Amino acid sequence: MTQYNASGPAADVVDILTTDHKEMMELAGQIKHTSDTGQRRDTADTLIAEVMRHAVAEEMYVYPAIEKHIPNGTEEVEHDKKEHDEIVQVMKQLEDCEADDPGFMERVDKLEGLLSHHADDEESQQFPKMRSHLSSEQLIELGKKVEEAKKMAPTRPHPSAPHSELFHKSVGAGVGMVDRLRDKLNGRKTN
Ligand SMILES: [Fe+2]
Ligand SMILES: [Fe+2]
Repeated sequence: MTQYNASGPAADVVDILTTDHKEMMELAGQIKHTSDTGQRRDTADTLIAEVMRHAVAEEMYVYPAIEKHIPNGTEEVEHDKKEHDEIVQVMKQLEDCEADDPGFMERVDKLEGLLSHHADDEESQQFPKMRSHLSSEQLIELGKKVEEAKKMAPTRPHPSAPHSELFHKSVGAGVGMVDRLRDKLNGRKTN
């Protein structure tokens, strides 16, 4: 995960999320470019954790800001959350699948397609609107919140968890803690 530090130029939330999208697509590509099943498993686990951190941070801070500041923001967010839900369902199937199972790469392909579509949507629709309706200070402030949220977020897909700010801010940190503990015990590559 790319970390922006205080000494560099201030990255705003759109820069951070766009970089995340690129990294996700790169990880999906890496899974396809190796035939080593151990490596496929590790990279898939890394990808799943990256997507979870990104999606939860968006749902905690970015989508509420879209709802608040952008005309028809609520509908945009509704659409985005539906797509997050599909992505989580496929990631759960991928988590449950052995890397040498013939269905594994099908699920990777499906996930890659959903991620690519969702990233294109955000980068062509929501992000430009954020840039025009929020000040650069607001965008930088949101970026900081997103980076903080990612540290606490779950690293595993939880298909029954709601995609809500309230859920993430109440129960989410506990879920994330349990996930990271399980990752450590199982040697799961989630960083
Ligand atoms: Fe999203
Ligand atoms: Fe995103």
